[in-house]
Amino acid sequence: MTAFVLGATGFVGREVVRQLCVRDTRTFAHVRPDSSSLESWRTRFAALGAEVDTTPWDAAQLGAQLRALAPVQLYILIGTTRGKAKADAIDGDIYEAIDLGLTKIAVEAARLSGCHPRLVYLSSLGADATARSAYLRARGKAETVVREAGLSWAIARPAIITGDRDDTRIGEQAGAVIGDGLLAIARVFGGRGLRDKYRSTTPDVLASALIRIGEDPVADRIADGADLR
Ligand SMILES: NC(=O)c1ccc[n+]([C@@H]2O[C@H](COP(=O)([O-])OP(=O)(O)OC[C@H]3O[C@@H](n4cnc5c(N)ncnc54)[C@H](OP(=O)(O)O)[C@@H]3O)[C@@H](O)[C@H]2O)c1
Repeated sequence: MTAFVLGATGFVGREVVRQLCVRDTRTFAHVRPDSSSLESWRTRFAALGAEVDTTPWDAAQLGAQLRALAPVQLYILIGTTRGKAKADAIDGDIYEAIDLGLTKIAVEAARLSGCHPRLVYLSSLGADATARSAYLRARGKAETVVREAGLSWAIARPAIITGDRDDTRIGEQAGAVIGDGLLAIARVFGGRGLRDKYRSTTPDVLASALIRIGEDPVADRIADGADLR
């Protein structure tokens, strides 16, 4: 079994790579070719047993690479933040440009490859192409691109992902603490389904769920809440 991971350097992506390697899946960890940390990622991923791929973000080039490697799953675990977009000098709607834009490239590459990988897409709770939030709107549109690719797919919609990041995200941590506290109270009053759906998760739990839905014989499904535990 071979898997290709886009967004491998992310908080979730690196854990997906680690867990795939533990399972003896041949794993290609994609790192953008202009990454300032490329050498450190090479060392880190080599230690896990993964192979680093630095194909540029271009549908034709990525498609040719996927054709050569023939992965069974293509994990798409990408997205920007305000801070990252600023560092990348991206203007305008950053989520439309990166979260949606790179997903379109990934999906087009998978289609061009002709090797029919399953698309395993990390989305977000609340993703909706008509949402008022630019982030959730881009996620909703990206989900449509994944679902309409003509390939098998699995979409994960987690709530907040928390844990020890390289870059501290105060809002994320505070959101998780407050949200989980309120949900614990809701559970006392019988809101178990609510708690399952909205409570925060961690990269290890989420990575294992992503791999599970990526390898599940049942394809074309959206997983959230208890499905991602
Ligand atoms: N954090 C949450 O609470 C949460 C909740 C639900 C859903 N999600 C979604 O899940 C996604 C992954 O989460 P995460 O925490 O793993 O994110 P992360 O740590 O920020 O990782 C994002 C990944 O996207 C890549 N990326 C970002 N901008 C790029 C660009 N311009 N060109 C190429 N690659 C780029 C990053 O590569 P570099 O390392 O090279 O920058 C990295 O591999 C997020 O983007 C988010 O939309 C997050």
